[in-house]
Amino acid sequence: MGIRIKKTASYLPKKVVDNFYFETFLDTSDDWISSRTGIKQRHFVEDSGIFDLIEKTIVNLNLSQEEIRRVKTIVVVTCTTSFAIPNLASQVQERFGFSKETYSLDINMGCSGFVAGLKLVEGIIKEGECALLIGAEVLSQILDFSDRNTAVLFGDGAGAVLLEYSKKNSIFSSGTKRNKRVLSYDHPTKGLHMEGREVYKFAVTTIGKSIDNFLKINNIKKEDINYFISHQANIRILETLAKNLNISMDKFPSNIERVGNTSSASIPILLDEINRESRLKHGDKILFFAFGAGLTWALAYLEW
Ligand code: UT7
Repeated sequence: MGIRIKKTASYLPKKVVDNFYFETFLDTSDDWISSRTGIKQRHFVEDSGIFDLIEKTIVNLNLSQEEIRRVKTIVVVTCTTSFAIPNLASQVQERFGFSKETYSLDINMGCSGFVAGLKLVEGIIKEGECALLIGAEVLSQILDFSDRNTAVLFGDGAGAVLLEYSKKNSIFSSGTKRNKRVLSYDHPTKGLHMEGREVYKFAVTTIGKSIDNFLKINNIKKEDINYFISHQANIRILETLAKNLNISMDKFPSNIERVGNTSSASIPILLDEINRESRLKHGDKILFFAFGAGLTWALAYLEW
């Protein structure tokens, strides 16, 4: 059994911040940021918070009454909410009048959280039901703006998918290699800390190998995959993974230039963009993969 993505939506806050902004108070440059990461701009919230991003994303899903009635699981994935109780998923349930019988839960697995959320939903959803999986982040609210190593990389945004039960198999895999030193955020005493080069190496080696293993173990030919939809951390990571797999970059869509790294929101935002561009066809085979804090990684194979 598996899950199917029925609808996608996303929302980016209106304020666009380009790389030149950081030149005004950090020893950095547009040239350094764009050549090392592929990022040209990102979006930051102004006077709104994470729930505003989530609300606007769900409105953009344009759910019918029938879809609202069928939703029995709501999962919000985030690592930047300051709202612990009630959890964000419960607030979504109340705000949009979803059934009182929903599992409403928030999960935090850093940038890998959205892909892990797909697996979680697959374990809960029953035939005839729908589930809402939302990735939302306000990274601008936890960044240390005096640290050029991290401040220039991240952005805010939210993306969501409406999922339904499918008889076609979905396949998942994940891993954890605990390392607090490399990437951590200790709220509220310490800001976001990242040893970027270490994460970079982890992404191109561990993730590259786990994609290879995943495809081999599950007997999936890489040539048959229509899209490799990755967490958007650095365009160079994607280029290296694509090169090592010997797969054209056309199959590795990216929006990092415009959106930056939005952690657990990055995959659903990208997915919604390519869906709205009508690039996805019924039956397309998609490999989702994400990596980040933990260190963790997660992979999911679904058919569109
Ligand atoms: O979402 C999941 C978590 N995050 C990631 O996946 C991020 C993965 N890592 C990366 O994307 C890259 O490692 C970075 C973009 C973070 C850094 O690029 P890099 O090519 O690995 O640079 P580096 O960390 O090795 O630093 C090279 C130099 C250093 O200076 P020195 O020591 O050579 O003098 C840094 O201090 O670049 C310096 N540097 C900067 N210079 C200008 C670091 N940040 C900046 C900056 N502007 N913003």
